[in-house]
Amino acid sequence: MSEINTIRTSLRQILWQDEFAVLEDLIKRYAPDDALRRKIEHDAISLVSTLRHDSTPALMEIFMAEYGLSTQEGVALMCLAEALLRVPDAHTIDDLIEDKIAPSEWGKHLGQSASALVNASTWGLLLTGKVLADEPRKSVSGYLHQAVKRLGEPVIRAAVTRAMKELGQQFVLGETIESAWKRGSKMMDKGYTYSFDMLGEAARTQEDADAYFEAYKAALTAIAKRASANDVAENPGISIKLSALHPRYESLQYRRVLSELSPKVLELCQLAASANIGLNIDAEEADRLDLSLDVIEQVLSDHSLASWEGFGVVVQAYGKRASATVDWLYQLASDLDRKLMIRLVKGAYWDTEIKLAQVEGLSAFPLFTQKASTDAAYICIAKQLLSKSDRLYSQFATHNAHTVCSVIQLADVLNTKHYEFQRLHGMGETLHNVVMSSHKTRCRIYAPVGSHKDLLAYLVRRLLENGANSSFVSQIVNQDISAAAIAADPFKLIEHGHTPVTPPAALFGERKNAQGWNLFDPIQRHVLLSMRDQFAETNWQVASICSVDVASAETHTVVNPADLNDTLGSAALIDDSSIANVIEHTQTWRADAAQRASSLRAAADLYEQHTGEIVAILQREAGKTIRDAIAEIREAVDFLRYYADQSLSLERDARGIMVCISPWNFPLAIFTGQIAAALAAGNGVIAKPAESTNIIAVRAVQWLHEAGVPADCLQLVLGTGQALGHSLCSHPAVAGVCFTGSTPTAQRINQTMAAHLAPSAPLIAETGGLNAMIVDSTALPEQVVRDVMISAFQSAGQRCSALRMLYIQEDVYEQTLEMLIGAMKCWYVGDPWDLSTDAGPLINAAAHQKIEAYITTCRDRGQLRFQSEPVSSSGYTLPATLIEVSGIEALSEEIFG
Ligand code: FAD
Ligand code: 2OP
Repeated sequence: MSEINTIRTSLRQILWQDEFAVLEDLIKRYAPDDALRRKIEHDAISLVSTLRHDSTPALMEIFMAEYGLSTQEGVALMCLAEALLRVPDAHTIDDLIEDKIAPSEWGKHLGQSASALVNASTWGLLLTGKVLADEPRKSVSGYLHQAVKRLGEPVIRAAVTRAMKELGQQFVLGETIESAWKRGSKMMDKGYTYSFDMLGEAARTQEDADAYFEAYKAALTAIAKRASANDVAENPGISIKLSALHPRYESLQYRRVLSELSPKVLELCQLAASANIGLNIDAEEADRLDLSLDVIEQVLSDHSLASWEGFGVVVQAYGKRASATVDWLYQLASDLDRKLMIRLVKGAYWDTEIKLAQVEGLSAFPLFTQKASTDAAYICIAKQLLSKSDRLYSQFATHNAHTVCSVIQLADVLNTKHYEFQRLHGMGETLHNVVMSSHKTRCRIYAPVGSHKDLLAYLVRRLLENGANSSFVSQIVNQDISAAAIAADPFKLIEHGHTPVTPPAALFGERKNAQGWNLFDPIQRHVLLSMRDQFAETNWQVASICSVDVASAETHTVVNPADLNDTLGSAALIDDSSIANVIEHTQTWRADAAQRASSLRAAADLYEQHTGEIVAILQREAGKTIRDAIAEIREAVDFLRYYADQSLSLERDARGIMVCISPWNFPLAIFTGQIAAALAAGNGVIAKPAESTNIIAVRAVQWLHEAGVPADCLQLVLGTGQALGHSLCSHPAVAGVCFTGSTPTAQRINQTMAAHLAPSAPLIAETGGLNAMIVDSTALPEQVVRDVMISAFQSAGQRCSALRMLYIQEDVYEQTLEMLIGAMKCWYVGDPWDLSTDAGPLINAAAHQKIEAYITTCRDRGQLRFQSEPVSSSGYTLPATLIEVSGIEALSEEIFG
């Protein structure tokens, strides 16, 4: 294997290694020695003191220190800032202000800050200065209400809107590159240079991606006119986000990304190269790292970029793979004989990454969980970078005095000046002024340019960053924290132990979280697919599993709804002649609770061990995408573990024999949930799965039995609802029925039970309905569209929780629909076996016909607003379809798809 591939492989493996082992390895290789660390700490303490004594903190720094994320008011302001400027109508603005501002205790912030500025500044932000100056001691919410009365809502609205605009401006240099250039010229006169960032990311539609591409091109042309230096590092440059340039920049769309995104990036690079300016690829979420390296490799390999030294890549020190990424980039540069610019940052998505890994139940976090680890890693990687300066020009982006002092000392020891500092517009201004004048280092300012509409994601990251207690910018304005504490050596802090962050597996405390799979990671994906693919052609012959003999009436061939040529097995169905006998031979589960709990937990483990087979069956029998299949296994496992715990705390005895009738749309999760709940309480169970999904039900019952559930306490009968339903729900020995499915069937069961069973026998029914989502203008359209797509179209809409009815506030109706339609255009319906498929088929021919006929009717009525590309598939697939109606009265029933 070539060197670069070896590095890539180890880079991928590091993702799953223990974070402390990764850190230890970094420290071993690159940590500065004790003497140097002492010197750095000393410099940093004195720098912090200088900053505190010689400068007044900027308004925003004081503001964030007072209204950080640890206060309710800070969070309220952040929500307000996030949403307010997007709202076009006065009424919603007033409601939003009232909603966010009124309930909080603003008064307690008055007089809290050491700075005289804070009260005035804070409330200057929210109200007119005049209102504040009048009565300095009253509570702010009192002011607000009084002011509303005195000045009227329009004035308050205008004041708050202006204040929030200012909050945005703190972090944005200008709305256009021209105005940004003008505003930035003062800094350039001081010796700073810029990297302009055209706001916008995470495009949801091709149209948006195209618009961002044009914006980058226009910016490049404008910057090019002003780039006169021979040294690319002295010229201003540009920063781009790959997620802005492609609506599906994600690794499961690998082929599309490489063939559609890379040429765009190349074109931008060629423009930058022709003007001799730097183009930097920002680092985004950890899941995109591996894919980004492929794009980078593809683009950089192009011969047209051979003599250009401005190709920039960002490395996030908080990521466990950061140092390996530097090795990989260095190797790539060597192989291609190129020079690169590497910006080292700590990373801006920490909170998101932690939450995602927890939600997904991953076996490890992709990043360090300790602030000191990130700080220490940054220093180590700085040394690594500086020692590779033959090919890498280092760009150290930080606002932390200790980190800055570390870089200066490391560069000194290595005797190099081949690097620059970077800071964000609106942050770290004094620090970098001081450092620049005393050390003659270069500094570049990252300057977002654009309108408010594209600011939000960026703004939220800045607010999170500035509002976090642990951040340097927040600590330096907090006089309660000593300079020595702020500038403490992170290597020392690491030795003093750490604050645990709940690992994904322990999210539910004692109850183990279901194991997740990161489909974006090539290693996990490979493992999962090789397990699944062993069952690509398996043929399952299944039948009822009963403790007494049952006679089969007919045998059903099981066909893959996504591919009618794929026959995956057969199921022997019974008729109702055997049902009474089965019921009479079913026992309640008399084992003690601990024994029941332990069997259910063992079943959960068995499910996890059989992930490959389950995924294959869910995909081939029920047409699930791999993502849906994983979610389904996890839900089933959760049910088993959850009810196992519940069984230990139950105070009542079992009811008796429960009949569990489950649907095909969650053929493992709902099936298992019903059974596990009943078994946990000591009931006996007769389960009847949906006719379409017998194979998965049979395998599940086999694992439950293997885990210790006695055969006569859990019996499985296969047959149609029509054939078995009545007998199952009318035998007097049945103590209750648990049913998930359609409302008419639930009603039928209810009637049958009423006629035959004891009045105390419960029917637990989970049925359909019409789910609506209401969207007003405070919602970020990108987020709305993402969630609508998932809710309406994932699983081909075959969920009782699926979105059926979307209401959009009139003021944002057309633009929201436009984005939704754009997203539907890049939503891929097809064979779910292919990982790039977003939604698979409908469950069977009947469902397909019904929904197709419904669409035809709507088309004839002129209600069809949009339909995505027709799908070529041999299964029951239909394109994503948007139907416009006047209101919910237009729907006479739930169309299940
Ligand atoms: P510090 O206060 O010293 O560090 C804060 C950082 O520490 C947090 O942002 C986080 O990364 C890390 N951290 C906080 N808590 C923990 C914890 N419990 N465990 C582990 N780590 C923790 N970010 C990107 O992601 N991609 C980019 O492309 C990018 N470009 C940038 C360009 C420039 C010029 C600059 C200045 C920043 C850029 N950033 C980018 C943002 C950058 O990641 C943050 O500004 C940076 O993390 C703040 O670090 P600091 O040294 O200034 O502050
Ligand atoms: C961000 O967008 C600066 O790239 C960094 O948060």
